[in-house]
Amino acid sequence: MLKVAFFDTKPYDKPAFQKYGDEKNIKFKFFETKLNEDTVDLAQGYDAVCVFVNDTVNKEVIDRLYELGVKTVALRCAGFNNVDMKHAFGKVHIVRVPAYSPYAVAEHAIAMLLTSVRRIHKAYIRTRDFNFSLSGMTGFDLHGKTVGVIGTGRIGRVFIDICRGFGMKVLAYDKFPAEGLDNGDTVRYTKLDELFEKSDIISLHCPLTEETYHIINRDSLEKCKKGVVLVNTSRGALVDAEALLDAIKAKKVGAACLDVYEEEADVFFEDFSGHIIQDDVLARLISMPNVIVSSHQAFLTEEALNNIAETTVQNITEVFGGGRCANEMCYRSNGAEDCKNCKCF
Ligand code: NAI
Repeated sequence: MLKVAFFDTKPYDKPAFQKYGDEKNIKFKFFETKLNEDTVDLAQGYDAVCVFVNDTVNKEVIDRLYELGVKTVALRCAGFNNVDMKHAFGKVHIVRVPAYSPYAVAEHAIAMLLTSVRRIHKAYIRTRDFNFSLSGMTGFDLHGKTVGVIGTGRIGRVFIDICRGFGMKVLAYDKFPAEGLDNGDTVRYTKLDELFEKSDIISLHCPLTEETYHIINRDSLEKCKKGVVLVNTSRGALVDAEALLDAIKAKKVGAACLDVYEEEADVFFEDFSGHIIQDDVLARLISMPNVIVSSHQAFLTEEALNNIAETTVQNITEVFGGGRCANEMCYRSNGAEDCKNCKCF
């Protein structure tokens, strides 16, 4: 039986992981704490660790896992910006869940966008207080608007499909454009500058890398249309949060829908309702009537949770089975010759 230390456990994680783990003879030990330099020793005696978006898998953690004989870090998410991939090479296998439900994330992005532009978050609070006034509730039609989509991978393309259903025009940007997506009319690949200049709404669906870090910054916001609506369901550090805050204050940005936040690791997924939030930028953003924040919940559907657990268990089984794991992040560390999908060099 394989033993796996599961970090940053939330109640909704357990049922699916227990179910699929039992099927494949994998025993999960659920720890509520996140994995980091201080908690890594909890992994002693385990074959693998299972981590999520805000666990820390840096050099120090990797070295300690190696010393402890932990062979695999199983990410139960798609993004891997929290892992030092280069350092992991040759020490631990890194496996991930590349796609669990692009629909979950794309639909959440749309839910936030509609909530924002139709003021549903305001209406919900007003009518609960029997306030049926409509002043300040004027929204705008999505039909006919231009949406800029940065990153046209799995999630970006589902998002684009939904936007097309609304009758929106799509300006897309991707470092590696998808074949067959640009129809020269309702969906068009363009340069980033044109996307910033012409979009009424901008939605981020690219990974966080050195290149995309703060892709939304003071300069790019300056290029945007006045009143642009920003949707970020990808990674917090794609957006310079202070620049965004200033742009909202200056009324350059009309609304922001944020499922992720640059400094979310310290606060998201936890209940701080009885505490004083120390992050002034986050507190100020949340205080704005035109900002909606959700706590990195775009992935959180039953379908996605099942897919995450099933794929993670499959990944662990494959790695320890000695064969090639399709979701291994570094093929070379798995002994295979070709490394074309390797993300660590
Ligand atoms: P994907 O790998 O299918 O697509 C990412 C796209 O971004 C690819 O087309 C890629 O070519 C493009 N890209 C890479 N570098 C770029 C750059 N420098 N500029 C522009 N485009 C670039 O990934 P998927 O599944 O669509 O996920 C996208 C992101 O969504 C993930 O990286 C992750 O950060 C985020 N995510 C957020 C979740 C949430 O709960 N909020 C859940 C799952 C993913």
